[in-house]
Amino acid sequence: MTHVNPLRDPQDRRLPRIAGPCGMVLFGVTGDLSRKKVMPAIYDLANRGLLPPGFSLVGFARRDWADQDFAQIVHDAVKEHARTPFREEVWNQLSEGFRFVPGNFDDDDAFEQLRRTVEELDQLRGTGGNMAFYLAIPPSFFGTVVGQLKKHGLADRAGDQWRRVVVEKPFGHDLESARELNDVLADVFPSGSIFRIDHYLGKETVQNILAMRFANNMFEPIWNANYVDHVQITMAEDIGIGGRAGYYDGIGAARDVIQNHLLQLMALVAMEEPIAFDAESLRIEKLKVLASAQLPPRLDTTTARGQYAPGWAGGEKVTGFLDEEGIEKTSTTETFAAITVHVETRRWAGVPFYLRTGKRLGRRVTEVAVVFKKAPHLPFSQTATEDLTQNALVIRVQPDEGMTMRFGSKVPGTAMEIRDVNMDFAYGGSFTEASAEAYERLILDVLLGDPPLFPRHEEVELSWRLLDPVIDHWAKKGRPDAYDSGTWGPPSADKMLARDGRTWRRP
Ligand code: BG6
Repeated sequence: MTHVNPLRDPQDRRLPRIAGPCGMVLFGVTGDLSRKKVMPAIYDLANRGLLPPGFSLVGFARRDWADQDFAQIVHDAVKEHARTPFREEVWNQLSEGFRFVPGNFDDDDAFEQLRRTVEELDQLRGTGGNMAFYLAIPPSFFGTVVGQLKKHGLADRAGDQWRRVVVEKPFGHDLESARELNDVLADVFPSGSIFRIDHYLGKETVQNILAMRFANNMFEPIWNANYVDHVQITMAEDIGIGGRAGYYDGIGAARDVIQNHLLQLMALVAMEEPIAFDAESLRIEKLKVLASAQLPPRLDTTTARGQYAPGWAGGEKVTGFLDEEGIEKTSTTETFAAITVHVETRRWAGVPFYLRTGKRLGRRVTEVAVVFKKAPHLPFSQTATEDLTQNALVIRVQPDEGMTMRFGSKVPGTAMEIRDVNMDFAYGGSFTEASAEAYERLILDVLLGDPPLFPRHEEVELSWRLLDPVIDHWAKKGRPDAYDSGTWGPPSADKMLARDGRTWRRP
């Protein structure tokens, strides 16, 4: 397989990349993920002209539906969640390729019907026998489903046809289960045909970390322990767990977000320059970061976790986690997690990476703040620099996508007084085109067979290796600390940084 990445190939850069003949089988069509992300993204891709004309979508679920019922479900999802405007002609062409196969995951007849449906679509719509199997289902069913795909010949491909499997996190709940899960997938699909979705890697602002670092000359010389004091990576949400109690309880913030999104962000911020922007070169550099990442020895003071109590969100009173529907009153699942990581390399020696995430926090924001050391000497009186803090480069992943540079500037006036000012880059001000949704980019990459933005199994394993001791440590400690909804997490999170003489940014 050749992997051409548009970040690298200038000839490819301006041409839209359009998927060749293919289709997708979606397992878990009744779930939130399918409705809110996958189905709208497929429509948006079709609307942008990036899907082949015969693209076909087969839904599989334990529902007594006909093709039209499935089409109606997709229609409603698209109307509610698609990014681009609804156009009848696009919809009509796309929905002609919709099929539904009812059945349980262990139902052989249903998988036989699925096989026939895939073959028929090939004849009718010219999918070329190329199929992506998207498992938007709990991982406990992965084994059964891929086993069925194998048994019924659905993973087999002839000639240059392709068959790929797409899996969503959680990729296991610890190192051991992640390995088991991988064995299950690897038993049926070769590693190049397994696409693990970490939707953060599909975000423009996340990909821009690499562009910013490696396409410019001004950041990289100071991107190291000589100049950087510490790095804060925050993914804060104002929402609670909503209707996801079944998924979230027992999983918690660390497994849900740190294991994947935040450690991937850390790897992109900390890695060395890859020799090329292809999957293998990126993997090599990310792996080095994850392999050299270590936890500090005292986990009680260098990590923090919390659970949201009642409070306020968006001006409204909201309930606490333990009062959410479907959550046991005794649940010890954390909804806030913070950890300290040291990347033990020459570049990052002594520079802590603080990672935090939480639900029901002050507001929705994801950012990476690279905080620089103070200038070694200030030739001003102390009072002149009282309001000067440390320089920082803040990559605003979302919302309000862009970057902010914080540095000291003279306050206009007769006295020499220096305080912080911000210099801003906003995507909206520099680019006219709205960014695609992460799922649009990633689904297109699956259909193109372009793997750089998908974490490889080794990365998943190393992330669990790092996180497992934290989760084990917390498991022994009973209840997480409570924090009021609408605040920035439990006091233990502030103490964690205060011990190092630092504070969290209030984004
Ligand atoms: C998902 C988590 O991966 O990311 C959710 O499972 C979280 O708990 C979501 O709400 C947030 O995604 P985004 O793109 O809105 O930051």
